Amino acid sequence: MTNAKSPALSPALLPQSIAAHLRYLRDLGVFDLYRRPVSPASRLAAAAIGAESPSEETAERPAGRPIRAELPIRDFNPGAAQEDPDIRTRKPHPAPPPVGAFVAPEGRAEALRAVRAEIGDCQRCALARGRNKIVFGDGNPAARLMFVGEGPGADEDAQGLPFVGRAGQLLNNMIGAMGLRRAEVYIANIVKCRPPQNRVPEPEEAQTCSPFLFRQIDVVRPEVLVALGSTAALYLLGVRSSLSGLRGRVHACRGARLIVTYHPAFLLRDPRQKKEAWRDLQMAMAELGLKPSSK
Ligand code: URA
Repeated sequence: MTNAKSPALSPALLPQSIAAHLRYLRDLGVFDLYRRPVSPASRLAAAAIGAESPSEETAERPAGRPIRAELPIRDFNPGAAQEDPDIRTRKPHPAPPPVGAFVAPEGRAEALRAVRAEIGDCQRCALARGRNKIVFGDGNPAARLMFVGEGPGADEDAQGLPFVGRAGQLLNNMIGAMGLRRAEVYIANIVKCRPPQNRVPEPEEAQTCSPFLFRQIDVVRPEVLVALGSTAALYLLGVRSSLSGLRGRVHACRGARLIVTYHPAFLLRDPRQKKEAWRDLQMAMAELGLKPSSK
């Protein structure tokens, strides 16, 4: 045996499976596991998937508290979750702004341009430093259906349009499977600037940016909103829960019916869940009175 020192751990050397597993848990809405790395290896694993390092919130937690999912994934038990003071007190954002005034369909494009103008060359949060383009939103200003993702990735940051990378291609296919064209729906994100290494937006970033998203929702007035992934669900619904606890139900958000499904990037990593996502989209279709295609 040689006495050579083991090489320093770097994200590049991490077994792909650890990083993939953490990403998988993150997408399922298991917040604490990736937020609270406990060892240098898990810290690097979190960095490798662009997850956060321990925040003040996690530092405040009494030492010795077990690492666990925010809500148990398999044994989801809403009753027990409500008894956990941690879950009840950690609000994803302060009270969201009241729903804005009704805008007639013919005025919606102009009203969206006004929201975009107000954002300007935004420097309101730290994400401004790393972005190339603000990704405002895209699609039909009077859409009946609106999708909300987490935040722009590299392709979106380069083009200034949401969901134009690989995840976007899958989203386009999902929209097509619903019998719709991308131009018929509206697409936006919780944050409008790309988080570094595609990490999850910090609460402060999401809280700073989401009022503009709320205004877009209020202008577009979609009948149905689809939250793509746990970050979108968290900031649209104001409830911190696992995706499994939120899927399969119709929620309410700013006058729209809201359905939660997996993020397309997650579906690229775990295509077995596409069947489940299709169920969610069928629920959205039923809410819109759309018939499944006979193909
Ligand atoms: N992922 C998102 O959440 N939004 C995008 O626009 C692209 C990828």
